[in-house]
Amino acid sequence: MTAAAAAPEREVLVWWARTGDARPELLGLLDAVERARHEATVRPGDKARFLVGCALSRVALGGLLGVPPADVPLRRVCPRCGGPHGKVGLTVPERSPYADVDFSVTHSGEVVGVAVCRGAAVGLDAEDDGIDLDVDAAARTALGEGERRALRARPPAARRAAFLRTWTRKEAVLKALGVGLHVPLRELELSAPDAAPAVLGWPGRLGRLGRRPEVSLTDLTVAGTHPAAVAVLAGGGVRVAVQADPVL
Ligand SMILES: CC(C)(COP(=O)(O)OP(=O)(O)OC[C@H]1O[C@@H](n2cnc3c(N)ncnc32)[C@H](O)[C@@H]1OP(=O)(O)O)[C@@H](O)C(=O)NCCC(=O)NCCS
Repeated sequence: MTAAAAAPEREVLVWWARTGDARPELLGLLDAVERARHEATVRPGDKARFLVGCALSRVALGGLLGVPPADVPLRRVCPRCGGPHGKVGLTVPERSPYADVDFSVTHSGEVVGVAVCRGAAVGLDAEDDGIDLDVDAAARTALGEGERRALRARPPAARRAAFLRTWTRKEAVLKALGVGLHVPLRELELSAPDAAPAVLGWPGRLGRLGRRPEVSLTDLTVAGTHPAAVAVLAGGGVRVAVQADPVL
C-alpha cells in the first residue's frame, strides 16, 4: 500500500488598497456591468469601496493573466436573482492555463483587499476594528454555543478582538465556498480565536449539499487595525504573500 501524497501548501497572493485610492481614472478599468453598479451606488464610501475593489481585482488578475486590467474577463451575476453581485468569477475558457484561478474581494472601512489563489477556491475577509459593535448581540447571531463559551471565558476587554477574529475566519470560509451569509453562521464551528484556525463543525445544510471540504485558514492583520483571514478549500495549509503597495 502506498501512502497518499500530502496535500500541497497553497500560495495565496493578497493585494491591499485604500478607499483613498479611488479616483475618476479608475472608472476606465471597469466593464459596463461594474460601471452601472458604481453609478447606481449612492453612498460615497460604498462607491469608493466598490470602485477600488473592481480596479484592484483587475490590476491583480491582469498582472497574472498578462492582459490590461480593463480586459480581464469578469462575471458578476448572482446565482439567486441574476443581479450584478455575489462572488465575482473570472471567465476564461476551460482549457485556459488560468482556468484554475480563483479570487476573493473584501472591503471594510478604508481597506480593500483581493486574494488570488490557483488550484483551490479562496475567500478573503477583513473587518474594521473601529466599527460600532455590540459583541454580545453579534455573538448570539454568529457564534455557536461552544464559541460563545470560549468568548465569555476571555476578559471583557479582549472579547471584541476575539469576536472579530472568529468572524473574519467564518466569512473567509463562507466566501471561499461562495455561499456568503446564506448558511447559519452559528453552525459553522471554528476553533477558539487564540488557537490555530480550523473548521470544527459544518452547517447541516452544507453537508446535505455535499460541501464539507478540507479547509486551510490563516489570520492576517491589515494596517494594524483590520483583522483579516484567508480561507482556501484545500488541506495542506496556506502561505500568504502580501503584494507590495501602492498597486493602484
Ligand atoms: C458575501 C458576504 C459574506 C460579504 O460580506 P461583507 O463582509 O459585507 O463584505 P465584504 O466586503 O467582505 O465582501 C464583499 C465582496 O464579497 C464578494 N461576494 C459577494 N457575495 C459573495 C458570495 N456569495 N461568496 C463569495 N464572495 C461573495 C463580492 O466580491 C463582494 O464585493 P463586490 O460585490 O464589491 O465585488 C455578504 O455580503 C453576503 O452574504 N452577501 C449575500 C447577500 C445576498 O445574497 N443578497 C441577496 C442577493 S439576491
